[in-house]
Amino acid sequence: MINRSSLPKDAFFEHIGRETALTFDDVRLRTGYAEVMPENVDLATLFSRNTPLKIPIVSAAMDTVTEHKMAIAMAKAGGLGVIHRNLSPEDQAKEVARVKFHLHGMIREPICAHETNTIQTILDLRREKGYSFHTFPVVNTEGTLVGVISENDFDFCTEPSRLVNEIMSTGLVTSHPETTVQEAYARMIREKKKVLPLVDAQGHLTGLYIFSDVRRIVTESNSGYNVDNNGQLRVGAAIGVADYDRVEKLLAKKVDVVVIDTAHADTKPVIDTLIQLKRSFPSLDVVVGNISEEESARRLLDAGADGIKVGQGPGSICTTRIVAGIGTPQVSAVYWCAKVADEYQVPVCADGGLKHSGDIPIAIGAGAHSVMIGSLLAGTDETPGEVIYLEGTQWKGYRGMGSLGAMQEHAGSRDRYRTGKSLLVPEGVEGLTLYKGSLEKAITMHVGGLRKGMGYVGAANIGELRAKGDFIRLTDAGKQESHPHDIRITKDAPNYQQ
Ligand code: XMP
Repeated sequence: MINRSSLPKDAFFEHIGRETALTFDDVRLRTGYAEVMPENVDLATLFSRNTPLKIPIVSAAMDTVTEHKMAIAMAKAGGLGVIHRNLSPEDQAKEVARVKFHLHGMIREPICAHETNTIQTILDLRREKGYSFHTFPVVNTEGTLVGVISENDFDFCTEPSRLVNEIMSTGLVTSHPETTVQEAYARMIREKKKVLPLVDAQGHLTGLYIFSDVRRIVTESNSGYNVDNNGQLRVGAAIGVADYDRVEKLLAKKVDVVVIDTAHADTKPVIDTLIQLKRSFPSLDVVVGNISEEESARRLLDAGADGIKVGQGPGSICTTRIVAGIGTPQVSAVYWCAKVADEYQVPVCADGGLKHSGDIPIAIGAGAHSVMIGSLLAGTDETPGEVIYLEGTQWKGYRGMGSLGAMQEHAGSRDRYRTGKSLLVPEGVEGLTLYKGSLEKAITMHVGGLRKGMGYVGAANIGELRAKGDFIRLTDAGKQESHPHDIRITKDAPNYQQ
């Protein structure tokens, strides 16, 4: 967080005035003296008061962008995915659980088998619940740990009607309930055990460590993951107005942060929801959006928002500004809202409208702590939906949450755009976006661009980029000069499309 007395960009935006608003293509960051090289800048930041990020990128809560696969990949890249809300509360909570269970630190409530279950019962349970894991601690009727069944036991079991206690492994190495991930790792290496159940003095199971997860958490390869204190990947989820039942279901699966996800957050129902959520779940971080005016920011912050999301109509699939005639171009919206949020020391997320990696340092230079992205991540392997082949090119579907299709199909979309089922006035479009391969590849380019931007500005970390960011305004000639010109491009660059 920065002390917001006066920053270099203040003079620029004061000069532009409040009657004119600028967006990404209107501006560039000024360069400055640098002591830090791009590869050494620190990208750590916050999405909300208590939700850290290792890279300032969050994937959009859209039904063509973020379900569990995207959220897992985003958290592994150091960012965060926000699971969309065009799902029933139960299904959305399952998506959250898939992210949280992907990389267990300590599993606090392991799914257990009973010693008198048949192997077939456990196989049925796995299929029914969609569990991808194979290791189950086995308990007796007193809840005492008596053994473990694991992948080998399932693989070599030729008679699924056999009882669990006939084939389970016994003689287990166990540890005490407070065992840390590091202690578990050392113990499992020493004892050559792939499973470490934790038991209390009475022999009751209190938790479980799995070696592959523990190793990933402890070793270097995992240092860039965005994980919670329990070593599990962080994940967010979108909710609607008065969506309290959904919040309870999400919390039961240990969601890290919820986002009240609306097209216009400066409304009484949204603010009432925020106040009620902060009353009922004081330790839950609630991000609220979207807005684009500083007075809206102040109202949400006064009501207790832990993060605000800025952006009304900048998105690649949005038609809100055209349909409703409202909205503020994004760089100015971010600047004015962030100026207020800095008074409250609350993080701001700039949502939508980013077309190139260079728009990330611009959004942060204008005051954002993170960016939320749809189109730049749409079309990656991790988004929902199939790859489509059309005229020799690979595509994936991408649509606005306020598009006709999304609103016809889902109450979540109708709620986001405050519209009933009988009169659907879309605020978004549906289409195809180029297939982009893995998220890792896309994120590497976006993060690389951000690092370079920080190197040019001379910002060693996100706080410095927010503090040092200053702008010049582009003329049409300046815009033209910024893009490749006087050349026929013959090779695709992985991070540039005209
Ligand atoms: P980008 O530009 O990254 O924008 O594709 C993603 C953001 O756009 C918002 N969004 C919409 N806005 N109509 C709108 O006016 C829509 O149908 C729509 N769908 C998504 C949303 O904030 C998202 O994060």
